[in-house]
Amino acid sequence: MEKTLYIETVGCQMNMLDSEMIVAELRQQGYRVTTRISDADTIFFNTCSVREHAEEKIYSALGKVRQIKQQHPDKIIGVVGCMAQKDQDGIFHRAPFVDLVVGPGQLRQIPQLLERIRQGAGRQLEVGLGRKDASLEIVKRSHETFDPLRDPTMRNSPAQAYLRIQIGCDKFCTYCIVPMVRGPEQGRPPEQILAEARTLADQGCKEITLLGQTVNSYRYRNGDTTTRLSDLIYQIHEIAGLRRIKFVTNYPKDMTNDLLQAVAELPKCSPYLHVPVQSGSNRILASMKRGYTVEEYRDMVDRIRATVPNSAISSDFIVGFSGETDADFQQTCELVRDMRFKNSFIFKYSVRPGTKGAELLVDDVPMDVKRQRNQELLALQNAICEEDNQAFVGQTHEILVEGPSKRARQQQAAEEQAAMESTNASTPESQELTESDYEMSDGIVQLVGRTHCDRIVVFDGMARQVGQFVQVSVHEANAHTLFGTVVTREVGPELYQLA
Ligand code: SAH
Ligand code: SF4
Ligand code: F3S
Repeated sequence: MEKTLYIETVGCQMNMLDSEMIVAELRQQGYRVTTRISDADTIFFNTCSVREHAEEKIYSALGKVRQIKQQHPDKIIGVVGCMAQKDQDGIFHRAPFVDLVVGPGQLRQIPQLLERIRQGAGRQLEVGLGRKDASLEIVKRSHETFDPLRDPTMRNSPAQAYLRIQIGCDKFCTYCIVPMVRGPEQGRPPEQILAEARTLADQGCKEITLLGQTVNSYRYRNGDTTTRLSDLIYQIHEIAGLRRIKFVTNYPKDMTNDLLQAVAELPKCSPYLHVPVQSGSNRILASMKRGYTVEEYRDMVDRIRATVPNSAISSDFIVGFSGETDADFQQTCELVRDMRFKNSFIFKYSVRPGTKGAELLVDDVPMDVKRQRNQELLALQNAICEEDNQAFVGQTHEILVEGPSKRARQQQAAEEQAAMESTNASTPESQELTESDYEMSDGIVQLVGRTHCDRIVVFDGMARQVGQFVQVSVHEANAHTLFGTVVTREVGPELYQLA
């Protein structure tokens, strides 16, 4: 009998990629994927533990699944990913109807675990070892990277893919759960990475984003040779068909000159660097154990700007970290004013049990102060985005088209909804549209894509342009988006069919 999988994913790009891999693996086993939870006999949540809110979202989604399980006891409910690793059998206690708990390092075992459950073996739990449970080598082996077959149909855009080059993290910032749930830092062998990059290019991929928690710390030692991220990029750059290479997330201390040189020299390398600073106060950076000072971060940004002209730099911030005073926060604002980041992701500090921060520091900034600092920093960053984006008005940029814009997606969903209601059909569980929904349409559709420096551009075009490069002239800009018009029929070495 055909089996049907529904998978919901939260968290970072690592989780998006893991979900793509889980789907690829289960398709091999004959599973079909559905976007309607009610159609599925296997329901997975790929989870994140980075903030409490991310976990609450999953526990509340699980609450809704309880009923499905009561009505259909044969359906299998699985919790996988970072929260599975963190809470382990605690998930069975909080949600006793869950059948399967699998950590990010055990994803490979999913098919056989599902089989065991179907044969009546009961609940299954597979997670990696804790940092102190065994020798480093054994712990590392229990956090295995999961990169089997690539499944292009699971990607949001046919021309873009993530490629994992590193798993885990060894930085142990005091607020962060990632080193505990993703295990020790390990670089994948370069030959595997290159083979996968070639596969992706053969599948029609034009942009690859290399993934690692601290991607620029990537090192792979084989005998006397060490491969660094810059070496990898030079090799990936050779692959015909690929047009853009990006990498996230960078750790400020490891932003070495060889890497910046590679970004500057290689035309396929996007002049875009995400290098989170987290705070503009040296006192707070020290208590976060980030390993650098504000002055060192500023020097690094100067180095980036000197080496990679017109580069876009983006950052993450945590506001309301333990002990953060108004004066500390004002230093963060000052840094944001000076750095002119392309964009910043701003988070309210969330204590994570199991971290040094939870153990040794007091979460002493009240929630309303965190909220207020979050809004203030966001407003400051938005004002800078809006100002800096004006410089793009009048310029023409090469855009990789990612898909229909949010507005076009909402419109299409509303039309489908209206059609459903008029035929009295049930409301779809998920109104996510796929690119194939648009292949049919031949009219003008609002599209979204990105510049080489990662800025979002919205313009009118044809659905068949999704996954292609087009030249767009920008005529308007706000804080988050550039608006433009397609100006050419021919781009780069390839000829693209426009309307
Ligand atoms: N490896 C990346 C990203 C880690 S998680 C890096 O080192 O930059 C993504 C972002 O979530 C972090 O950059 C940080 O800003 C935020 N974050 C991590 N732990 C957090 C916590 N406990 N509370 C609030 N934000 C957190
Ligand atoms: Fe977390 Fe710090 Fe590692 Fe990033 S570098 S994943 S913030 S511990
Ligand atoms: Fe979340 Fe795990 Fe990523 S904790 S941010 S999904 S590595």
